[in-house]
Amino acid sequence: MRTHSLTVLFFHIFTLFCTAQGNSNISESIRHNAAADGINLAALNFTDLVLNEIVGIYDSAQCSNNISGNGGNGSRIDVHTHLVPDWYRSLVPLTGGNPTPQWNLTSTFSFMDSENIGRSVLSFSSPGAAVFPGNQAMTVAIARLMNEETAAYARSFADRLSFMAVVPLPYINESIQEAKYALDELGAVGLVLLSSFEGKYLGDPAFTEFFQSVNEKEGKQIIFVHPGTPYLIVNGDLVEANPTRYPTGFLEFYFETARTFQDLTVTQTLDNLSNIDWIVPHAGAAYPTILDRVLYGSFPALVNDTYDIMKTRLWYDTAGPTFHHQIGGLLAYDVDDSQILFGTDFPYVPQLSQAGSLQAILDSNFVNETGKEGIFNGNAKGLFGEDLDRGCLH
Ligand SMILES: *[C@@H]1O[C@H](CO)[C@@H](O)[C@H](O)[C@H]1NC(C)=O
Ligand SMILES: *[C@@H]1O[C@H](CO)[C@@H](O)[C@H](O)[C@H]1NC(C)=O
Ligand SMILES: *[C@@H]1O[C@H](CO)[C@@H](O)[C@H](O)[C@H]1NC(C)=O
Ligand SMILES: *[C@@H]1O[C@H](CO)[C@@H](O)[C@H](O)[C@H]1NC(C)=O
Ligand SMILES: *[C@@H]1O[C@H](CO)[C@@H](O)[C@H](O)[C@H]1NC(C)=O
Ligand SMILES: *[C@@H]1O[C@H](CO)[C@@H](O)[C@H](O)[C@H]1NC(C)=O
Ligand SMILES: *[C@@H]1O[C@H](CO)[C@@H](O)[C@H](O)[C@H]1NC(C)=O
Ligand SMILES: *[C@@H]1O[C@H](CO)[C@@H](O)[C@H](O)[C@H]1NC(C)=O
Ligand SMILES: *[C@@H]1O[C@H](CO)[C@@H](O)[C@H](O)[C@H]1NC(C)=O
Repeated sequence: MRTHSLTVLFFHIFTLFCTAQGNSNISESIRHNAAADGINLAALNFTDLVLNEIVGIYDSAQCSNNISGNGGNGSRIDVHTHLVPDWYRSLVPLTGGNPTPQWNLTSTFSFMDSENIGRSVLSFSSPGAAVFPGNQAMTVAIARLMNEETAAYARSFADRLSFMAVVPLPYINESIQEAKYALDELGAVGLVLLSSFEGKYLGDPAFTEFFQSVNEKEGKQIIFVHPGTPYLIVNGDLVEANPTRYPTGFLEFYFETARTFQDLTVTQTLDNLSNIDWIVPHAGAAYPTILDRVLYGSFPALVNDTYDIMKTRLWYDTAGPTFHHQIGGLLAYDVDDSQILFGTDFPYVPQLSQAGSLQAILDSNFVNETGKEGIFNGNAKGLFGEDLDRGCLH
């Protein structure tokens, strides 16, 4: 009887400690850090809701160490996988012309367990922080909230999750500051950028200073580029540019990836900033295919360097159905399969991205068993190194 009451008492004290302690301090410190960086979180009318959600994430970690199902039994590392908080989904009901999927942490852990994924490197899909084009205060504030929330997941479940951070481009100084905060304070293992921001592709001279600042950071830096919807600037307005009858995610995402890496190539952003490694989504998408034409046709001086970078500082994720035939094209550029990383695109386009695509890798004759081991696990460790285990609160 006495033992039982004591246990109950300790349980209550423990619960109080976990909820009350976490609460005020975490949201206060997030507000404090934002204010110190000149970020006005009140520019968004849903800041309180997001901060409460973040507090809940930290609380669930402090009070439960077994939310993650089988406890990270799988060995695969998924570098292309997304979080979709409900508040973000209500702001962004469509992604690439398709409904933005419903998501929660439990669904990520169930998916990871079903595909033997031990670690997921979470990031926001497109449009990421670019939800309020033209509005600097809101863009800068939402980028901070997104990074705080993704970091909350990665820190709270550090045994299974890591994350890559968004930046509020096209705002350069603010993006430099956010990258520094996310990488140095929040424990992000890399940055996720859209293929274009407000109609400008990543090689645009407006962005050079941002990339230089990332390049100057100590240690290898990792940038994952995620395709988004293409926009034209017409009389100063952004107009969605989809010349076909199909959703932009269907075709345009592959071309957006090609456009932005072409721009990074011919402006020599890839070449000059040698401290940055890049993850090219969807096994390179249409980028490898356009290169001979661009380089031999118009930039012959860049041929050797570009193909060299392609084999060393560019990494390619498998997200989507990339292994039926497409991967053979990439490998034909003499890219070694050690540059390929496992990615699933979960929870987006499940009909394209999940079980069947995994089976296509397992069945593939393009890569042998050793190569597949690398794709599932070793290559990501080669890229991220020990950084994959950064960010643990405990
Ligand atoms: C939490 O906040 C309270 C009140 O602001 C403060 O006294 C306490 O030191 C903080 N604890 C931590 C761990 O920061
Ligand atoms: C926030 O403001 C938008 C309009 O800008 C409005 O549609 C929405 O309902 C508001 N949300 C909240 C939580 O107040
Ligand atoms: C952890 O969770 C798994 C799956 O939900 C469950 O089977 C297992 O019993 C739990 N372990 C502990 C120690 O609670
Ligand atoms: C982990 O995997 C091993 C080998 O497949 C299996 O025996 C074990 O039951 C798994 N553990 C959990 C907690 O799922
Ligand atoms: C989590 O998301 C899955 C997939 O959308 C859904 O089936 C499930 O009901 C959700 N769970 C909760 C607790 O919201
Ligand atoms: C960005 O920061 C630099 C110095 O750090 C400053 O000279 C420049 O005016 C700032 N630009 C903007 C647009 O605030
Ligand atoms: C890269 O360096 C070359 C000179 O070697 C220069 O012409 C070019 O503008 C630079 N590009 C960027 C994006 O830094
Ligand atoms: C590229 O490499 C080839 C073969 O090594 C060499 O013949 C050629 O001169 C190089 N081109 C440039 C522009 O350096
Ligand atoms: C597997 O393929 C790689 C090339 O990707 C090759 O170097 C290696 O020798 C092959 N291993 C076996 C066991 O065939």
